[in-house]
Amino acid sequence: MDSPVRPSHTAGTAALARLHLNKLVAIKNRFLRRLTKSKKTKPAAAPVVASTPAVVTSTPAATSTPTAAPVKASIIDEQTARSKYWVEEPPINEHPSAEALIKYFRPDIKDKASMIRLLKDIRLKAWQIKYYPCVGQWLFFKFGMTEHAMYPEIVDRVKQGQRILDMGCFMGFDGRKLVADGAPSSGITNMDLEDRWFPLSFELFKDENTFEGEFFGGCDITDEELFGEDSIHRHRYDMIYIGYFVHLFPPSQQAKILNNLVQMLKPTSGSMIFGNTSGSAKENGFLMKADFAPPSKNEKGEWVRPDFIFHSEKTIVELMAASVKGDGEWVFSGQQSAIDLDLSPTKAYAEHFKDVELVNMNFCMRRL
Ligand SMILES: C[S@@+](CC[C@H](N)C(=O)[O-])C[C@H]1O[C@@H](n2cnc3c(N)ncnc32)[C@H](O)[C@@H]1O
Repeated sequence: MDSPVRPSHTAGTAALARLHLNKLVAIKNRFLRRLTKSKKTKPAAAPVVASTPAVVTSTPAATSTPTAAPVKASIIDEQTARSKYWVEEPPINEHPSAEALIKYFRPDIKDKASMIRLLKDIRLKAWQIKYYPCVGQWLFFKFGMTEHAMYPEIVDRVKQGQRILDMGCFMGFDGRKLVADGAPSSGITNMDLEDRWFPLSFELFKDENTFEGEFFGGCDITDEELFGEDSIHRHRYDMIYIGYFVHLFPPSQQAKILNNLVQMLKPTSGSMIFGNTSGSAKENGFLMKADFAPPSKNEKGEWVRPDFIFHSEKTIVELMAASVKGDGEWVFSGQQSAIDLDLSPTKAYAEHFKDVELVNMNFCMRRL
């Protein structure tokens, strides 16, 4: 999507050459597969900032009204993004399961220093694609799927032959975690809008010849072709995981996004969509403007930042219910857990969220 506020620099020849090389490697290994119709890979775009518990608007910050005033839009530059979201060292001590996962896939890495070097190299390449706060802060080390109490059930269901889709999978950390925990990779589908994450993931995990699951790049959940009548993804998945994904979309679009995912879910009892998002302990959640997402035009034709919502247990359940209104019987759950901002890896991040009453929100909608 073109926007008048994209950074003016474009990807250089070297970056393009690397991208093409990466793609060739991925295609050669049969893992970068896009089976939907007309999902053309976009040319390498200049990095834009986007994503997760992100933040900071230069203008009106926190507001609890559903329609915050338009703000003057300008996309955050790399330096500003770094100052807010960049944590230099990988927090491997805080995330022992992340270190264990790398060791599982890379027994050839003998010492911690080499592992850290590799992680920093891969993380920098990902950052150069998009300035995601979750990339700058290593939040992908969290394995959001494992934060669900039903995680053992998920592993079991894949072992029994069910298929799980990780939508907005980034490099596919959660899928690799499932494999390390005993699930067959053949039951795992990784899907993302951005296909440049996948070659990076093979560079890290070195599993291009052993991972038997699927990688679909260039898939936009807002694109009706992805889940429409003719799509191979329609009614295909037993479980769909969306880790730190739903917040990427303005609150007014989120029910439609979830409904799009429902179209990819098998219409059978027990099928479910589950995920995590950054939430608020306030009863009705917390609404603010996002400085990290590309602006869009409002009804007056002005370029504005999208609204960003931190869901409460109540609003996330309302959202899920709205997404399937009248379509079958479902059970919805939203469960918050505490986040200690004093432990935040960057001061700017913690400062920005002090009014939000930030929590981690796990949610699930299961068909009866
Ligand atoms: C914040 S990251 C979350 C990554 C991972 N699920 C996790 O829990 O760490 C959001 C991911 O969604 C992808 N994404 C953004 N917009 C998308 C869209 N419209 N359709 C599909 N994927 C999208 C991004 O490329 C990115 O990998």
